[in-house]
Amino acid sequence: MATDTQIDQYRVFGNPIHQSKSPSIHKAFALATEQQINYQAQLVAEDEFEHTVTEFFESGGKGLNITVPFKQRAFAMAQTLSPAAQKAEAANTLYLNNQGQLVADNTDGMGLVRDICHNLSGELKGKRILVLGAGGAVRGVLQPILAQLPAQVTIANRTHSKACDLAASFTDLGSIAAVPMDQLQGPFDWIINGTSASLAGDLPPLPEGLLTNTSRCYDMMYSADTTVFNAWAIEQGAAQADDGLGMLVEQAAQSFNLWRGILPPTATVLSALRSGLNV
Ligand code: ATR
Repeated sequence: MATDTQIDQYRVFGNPIHQSKSPSIHKAFALATEQQINYQAQLVAEDEFEHTVTEFFESGGKGLNITVPFKQRAFAMAQTLSPAAQKAEAANTLYLNNQGQLVADNTDGMGLVRDICHNLSGELKGKRILVLGAGGAVRGVLQPILAQLPAQVTIANRTHSKACDLAASFTDLGSIAAVPMDQLQGPFDWIINGTSASLAGDLPPLPEGLLTNTSRCYDMMYSADTTVFNAWAIEQGAAQADDGLGMLVEQAAQSFNLWRGILPPTATVLSALRSGLNV
């Protein structure tokens, strides 16, 4: 039996961190794949981030998940960047490569696409997609969305100039443009909400006519109750509106795969989380 210090150590660093579901998710993955790992959530003070990351790896730690507000700082610390982290300019996963270099990756976008295309049987290829928001969360998912070859990605944001800047930095990857919120012309096949408005129970000011009864919506946020955005989507007649719990589980699975070389099954963990059970 390995003692606790011999077991490979993983952490999620954030501030706040008490709400994190990542330890339960990774424990369930470890159990399902018969991997021995120790994964814990750790509150890191704002001015202690870089020092705490360095110390963690120097003491033999194997991998980190990084959450709000440190994803950009994790990206800035890395010596090697995955293409996803490079485009996102943020990292949610850190580990050391064989040369001992700090590698940054970003599995958020892959998590979103896996949830939509695999768990929710959705298709993004050839579709008209509206993405709401132009902050870090949206920047993190655009590359994997564009890799699905949608017909067009439109970005709309409360602050239009930010949507323009963001779209401009992704034009090399596909058809993407920024449109002011009040000039949006529907219908869209998909609307993906990447704003933090739902957190405050707010809705971006969306015009009518963006959806048909075959349109689907996805809120990258999740909550026990239907999010404000998803309630709007259903009220507007969308075929389906899903929240971001599946994205959370799928991004975790991709991180687990980067660290352990094995992609864990996600369906059981997701349904257990969904029904509010401990996993
Ligand atoms: P994150 O890392 O979660 O993306 P962020 O970088 O602060 O956080 O970005 C938050 C996004 O949600 C932004 O696009 C923001 O719009 P602005 O760029 O205009 O600030 C959007 N957002 C936040 N609250 C909102 C609200 N009440 N209505 C509409 N958009 C909102």
